[in-house]
Amino acid sequence: MKIVILSGSNRKKATSTALAKSLEHQMRRQFVDVSLFDLYEKPLPFYSPDDASTRHEGVRELQRLLMEADGIILTTPEYHGGMSGVLKNALDYASQVHFTGKPVLSVSSAGGAVGVSSLQQLQTTVRNLHGINSPEWISLGGTQRAMYEADVPDDAVILDYRAKEALTRFVDLVRTIRAREDMISS
Ligand SMILES: Cc1cc2nc3c(=O)[nH]c(=O)nc-3n(C[C@H](O)[C@H](O)[C@H](O)COP(=O)(O)O)c2cc1C
Repeated sequence: MKIVILSGSNRKKATSTALAKSLEHQMRRQFVDVSLFDLYEKPLPFYSPDDASTRHEGVRELQRLLMEADGIILTTPEYHGGMSGVLKNALDYASQVHFTGKPVLSVSSAGGAVGVSSLQQLQTTVRNLHGINSPEWISLGGTQRAMYEADVPDDAVILDYRAKEALTRFVDLVRTIRAREDMISS
């Protein structure tokens, strides 16, 4: 079972990326095969339909990770009530072939108390890509972000019980769907 996390911030010390790393480390502790693609570390060129079959290394790596994944986690800062531009740009390189039938967990970090607008926008995009929105989402907001702004060891897991619960529900859903697919194909 493979999970890919697409971290959608273009900021070096982004709280949404710190949260993405905590989710990554929590899954690794549970022996889940997980990859994190960080759009700050690996910026992608602007998507153009005229050049959709780009040979850009980062684009091809992201498309491969999405294709191989059984489940996908999208993390974003909330910008003007929506997802970040860099995340939307990355998702424009994806299509239904990467998302169909796969559970997707949406995660956001907002200046306000909750980032519901960006989460709803993410879920709309997932629906249009024919992914399966996980029953819960993770919203980091307001003063909660302080714990992700401090310098913490690289493999630290900083997740409150709600975030852990949302992650557990997502991983369980990925496992259930994967097991059903294995049963059908055997
Ligand atoms: C361009 C821009 C737009 C923003 N718009 C919103 C917004 O609509 N709602 C909100 O709650 N916070 C907004 N914020 C604050 C960010 O959501 C907040 O700082 C968030 O924690 C950033 O995530 P990051 O730490 O992953 O970069 C905005 C910040 C920027 C830079």
